[in-house]
Amino acid sequence: MINVPIVYRHSLHQQITCILEEASTGEYRQPDTSFITRLTANATTLQGLFHELYGDHPLRDHLFEDLIRTLIRGHSSRPAVMLDRDDRKLDEGHWFLSSKITGMSLYVDRFCGDLRGMNDRLSYFKELGVNLLHLMPLFESPEGESDGGYAVSDFRRVDPRFGTLEDLRMLQERMLSECMYLMMDIVFNHTSHHHDWAQRAKAGDPEYQDFFYMFQHRTMPDVFDADMPEIFPESAPGNFTWVEECGKWVMTVFHRYQWDLNYRNPRVFIEMLDTVLFHANLGIDILRIDAPAFIWKEPGTTCQNLPKAHTLLRLLRRCVATSAPGMALLGEAIVAPRDIMRYFGTGIFTAQECDIAYNATHMALQWDALATGDTRIMLAAQPELQQKPFGTTWINYVRCHDDIGLGYTDEMIRQAGFDPYEHRRYIKDYYSGVHPGSDARGALFSVNPKTQDARISGSLASLCGLEAAIAGEDALSVDTSLSRIVMMQAHSLFLGGIPMLFYGDEVASLNDYSYQEDPGKHYDNRWMHRPRMVWTSLAERHRRGTVLHRVFTDLQRLIRIRREQDLTGDYGNIGWMHPHNIHVAGYIRWLDARKLYCVFNFGKEPAWLTWYAFKQHGALPEILCDLWTGNYHRVGPDHEHFILPAYGFALLSNQG
Ligand code: GLC
Repeated sequence: MINVPIVYRHSLHQQITCILEEASTGEYRQPDTSFITRLTANATTLQGLFHELYGDHPLRDHLFEDLIRTLIRGHSSRPAVMLDRDDRKLDEGHWFLSSKITGMSLYVDRFCGDLRGMNDRLSYFKELGVNLLHLMPLFESPEGESDGGYAVSDFRRVDPRFGTLEDLRMLQERMLSECMYLMMDIVFNHTSHHHDWAQRAKAGDPEYQDFFYMFQHRTMPDVFDADMPEIFPESAPGNFTWVEECGKWVMTVFHRYQWDLNYRNPRVFIEMLDTVLFHANLGIDILRIDAPAFIWKEPGTTCQNLPKAHTLLRLLRRCVATSAPGMALLGEAIVAPRDIMRYFGTGIFTAQECDIAYNATHMALQWDALATGDTRIMLAAQPELQQKPFGTTWINYVRCHDDIGLGYTDEMIRQAGFDPYEHRRYIKDYYSGVHPGSDARGALFSVNPKTQDARISGSLASLCGLEAAIAGEDALSVDTSLSRIVMMQAHSLFLGGIPMLFYGDEVASLNDYSYQEDPGKHYDNRWMHRPRMVWTSLAERHRRGTVLHRVFTDLQRLIRIRREQDLTGDYGNIGWMHPHNIHVAGYIRWLDARKLYCVFNFGKEPAWLTWYAFKQHGALPEILCDLWTGNYHRVGPDHEHFILPAYGFALLSNQG
């Protein structure tokens, strides 16, 4: 375990006082007292973490001073309105645990054209009940080599496709006035090969070559490759790319045009910290750190989840907590259940690393349960997932812009009585529509011919059978798929954490296959589930009886129920039921004496639940009220049953 003693060091205090004095003669606003207090209080930890990473660097003291200067500069250029918001969030404490926040993730261009267009769409989010927007990457990214914006060539310039930095600032102000939250990405692990640093490296500048993992000969790339898995084995095999311009190999874990940043070089960290604070000062409430599992590399390892990647994140977290304390950090680590917990911090850094992480394991387990109608693996995973420390939270989601990876462990599958290989094969066959009994219309993504690993692409609606049902003009199957869609959303919404919808799913968008004709996208089938919104058709959501109306209004109602029930906030107040029926997953949310029993039937037949399954978890009143249907249920003796329809669910409250 990494330990940094938190002690007062007089010499460090003096060093910081000197830098602050020097800053007070500079061009920036004077640092305020609360910043100075935070900086002084955090100084030893900042230094300890910095030394853990760069203690051997000959210029470490000088570089640490640069880091402190970066923090001062970042804070001094923070707009006054954000300083106020920081104070309010600090007063509130753990603001992101609340049940009042519901998010949606979207591509601005595919959603409504550009940033200005977003202003006209804010009423749409209000109508649905969404008050947090995750705007997918907006910064400059070369067309055709963009990875959906995750290959950034300029971290401070909005890509002209979306508008300007000014448009972004104006949108943020508008959102703020509507009490909305903003989430955006920092693509922390890599840059586009068109980024200025990469261009200089290509031109042969050794200083910038050291910003990346560059090697003259194949020796080191071979050593690394021996233990590093491939992320996109089909479209970008291997982890290194030959750079003709300078005659060197560069590490490219993702696509060939995404160059991995070398955080072993402290300059890279300081530059990226400056970038992070620039982003913070745009008014971002949640900063999504893209691909944090990959940020530290060491030969002889998989180069994922390494201890120093955590040290880097802790350092970043402490820097942000000093300069822009209202901004929470979301670590986008899509890793094994045990590994994900470490991103919340361990030891004395528990709850001091990422504030938020994706609940990717649970997301995949929902898809697993839907395909099999069996919830035992989901249940087997909960002891692990329940380890999340207080003060941190999940992003819960059913779909996002990425694929679905079946990341739960073999052990969890075995515990439920299945063979891991056969089981995963079934899930992949089911969602790619290959299995004879399947009406899902997805596709396999990133199939690794060596390991047979694969992930799954496809929109929520198409994976739930709606595409096939509409094609087959089968009204009954349409109903079934809609029940699945809403049940999947409900299960994720009440779980505890920030629910993050993916745009288009609120109106049951089907797969869009037009990406196949686009040379910049055809190699990546994740584009099938990244729809273009057609606003003229969206008017259908107001027409009773249409598919759009059913899905949209159900979601609207679910969000409202969640918002009104503060017990659905994430306060360590969830327990899992043992429903004595393998098709049903149930969890209990509570706050004080109030309880909400959330039960979901993943099976294709009605499910019977003995009342004992509820009573097992404490006394029940005579009557429970289902907040979803509005029906009241008299609690029966143990041998009587509560019945859930196929793919149905109930939200049973003990407060009538
Ligand atoms: C993250 C993004 C994904 C992207 C990758 C590389 O996983 O979610 O879309 O391809 O990072 O930046």
